[in-house]
Amino acid sequence: MHRTDSAGLPAAAPAAPAWWRGAAIYQVYVRSFADGNGDGIGDLAGVRAHLPYLAELGVDALWFNPWYASPMADGGYDVADYRRIDPAFGTLAEAEKLIAEALDLGIRTIVDIVPNHVSQAHAWFVQALAAGPGSAARARFWFRDGRGEHGELPPNAWPSQFGGAAWTRVTEPDGTPGQWYLHRFAPEQPDLNWENPQVRQEHEEVLRFWFDRGAAGVRIDSAAEVVKDPALPDFTPDRDPHPYLDRDGVHDIYRSWRRLADSYPQPRALIGEVWLPDPARFARYLRPDELHTAFNFGFLACPWDAERLREAIGTTLAAHAPVGAPATWVLANHDITRTVTRYGRADTAFDFATKRFGIATDLALGTRRARAAALLTLALPGSVYLYQGEELGLPEVEDIPADRIEDPMHHRTGGRDPGRDGCRVPLPWSGSTAPYGFSPTEIEPWLPQPTDWARYSVAAQDQASDSMLTLYRTALHLRRTEPALGDGPMNWLKSDPQVLAFTRGTEFSCLVNLSDTPAPLPADSVVLLTSAPLDEDLLPPDTAVWLRTV
Ligand code: NOJ
Ligand code: CA
Repeated sequence: MHRTDSAGLPAAAPAAPAWWRGAAIYQVYVRSFADGNGDGIGDLAGVRAHLPYLAELGVDALWFNPWYASPMADGGYDVADYRRIDPAFGTLAEAEKLIAEALDLGIRTIVDIVPNHVSQAHAWFVQALAAGPGSAARARFWFRDGRGEHGELPPNAWPSQFGGAAWTRVTEPDGTPGQWYLHRFAPEQPDLNWENPQVRQEHEEVLRFWFDRGAAGVRIDSAAEVVKDPALPDFTPDRDPHPYLDRDGVHDIYRSWRRLADSYPQPRALIGEVWLPDPARFARYLRPDELHTAFNFGFLACPWDAERLREAIGTTLAAHAPVGAPATWVLANHDITRTVTRYGRADTAFDFATKRFGIATDLALGTRRARAAALLTLALPGSVYLYQGEELGLPEVEDIPADRIEDPMHHRTGGRDPGRDGCRVPLPWSGSTAPYGFSPTEIEPWLPQPTDWARYSVAAQDQASDSMLTLYRTALHLRRTEPALGDGPMNWLKSDPQVLAFTRGTEFSCLVNLSDTPAPLPADSVVLLTSAPLDEDLLPPDTAVWLRTV
């Protein structure tokens, strides 16, 4: 009999493989997916209307960037109320319907939890400002007196990740310049104090709130950054442990979350946003009683280079093996330069520090490589994340007028950093001019779309055998039907160093040619899918192939 838990999710059969170990998960940036009510902003009605598109694409789950009530100072990563949907996106009732409708199509829902900080508009922060120094309300955050004779200097020299200082001074209720509060991101995002039991309890209640509404898992924002050294010492490169990154205390939080996730008949999955350079430290988050998986940023940041990719894949698998967690493969998300743009540049690696306007890009080359990279990631062992628009081959938009850029990363670096809006431009669905079916005609989307995006629209790509959309659809469907794909082992084949070649199971292999000359295919193999046409029997440069070995 088909059992479900109270939230409608099928209860896990004891021996069934866990869905998250090999899932293809599609990231929905709601603001830019589809506008259902015609105000230029993507919303839940827009997502619901396009669920058949996502089902046809062949994804197993959707991860929604924060959809909660928010002033949108950081695209919703400034949460004012976790139990309400932002009015621009819809209502809680609509979110519940969306979760249920997606599940009817076999698609699970993952929501985004942001434990490091809340919005300035969150009731707790409003209370903290009003309650004054030394209050219980301020103890949920990091309020401190300033240094200097009149407290005019920040309590320490920690930088904000968005540029500038990580401290902002408040005006006390009596009108005098007062204490400072910590914000590792924008000033609109005060950091929570995880030493405070109420902070812990509240987040577990928020998890329950969404798990009870059928969320199959959570993506945990800035997961390695939530615990701080309460002494708030200055950061020096030799300081170990680090005062605000990857502190040991963070693991207790996720152990407790894991017990909660496991208490459901269909255990909920915990997915960490963990940016750490040391793979061994990263793997500690994936121990059997902590998170289920975490994003593989080492692979994402890796340049389009065979040696480096081989090494990144090997390091990933070696780090995951001791803890028994599956790897994840990610090429893009809402923070990262779009793949077709990145791979079309002289420097194909990703690094926040080197993002600049005006870098020369060969989009045709980048697209060719992105197609090959898609087949590579979809063939690697573990789960895979796709960011909306990746399946359309959308490029980074680099000419958004300065006065339309919203991302604080741009503004807080004095405009030096282009910010992340270039990968957040509303999707083109149909038609020959903006808004390309994203909003009703004549309505201008919240970020302007380029004038040459008709060719990227879903309608334009739908039936085209050589489109990026067709490649993703075909690959995702094959990935579902090939038993060796998804979770499981892989084996490297002996190959030219500039060709990545590996098998999955006994009959499936994937080759990616990163050299500048065509490469031979193994004998006795049948081509299942290629990212570009073969050159006679040879695999051209920057091309990937999936093969059945017979
Ligand atoms: C990581 C998110 O992916 C990013 O978009 C956000 O700005 C920061 N965390 C802060 O929440
Ligand atoms: Ca809307």
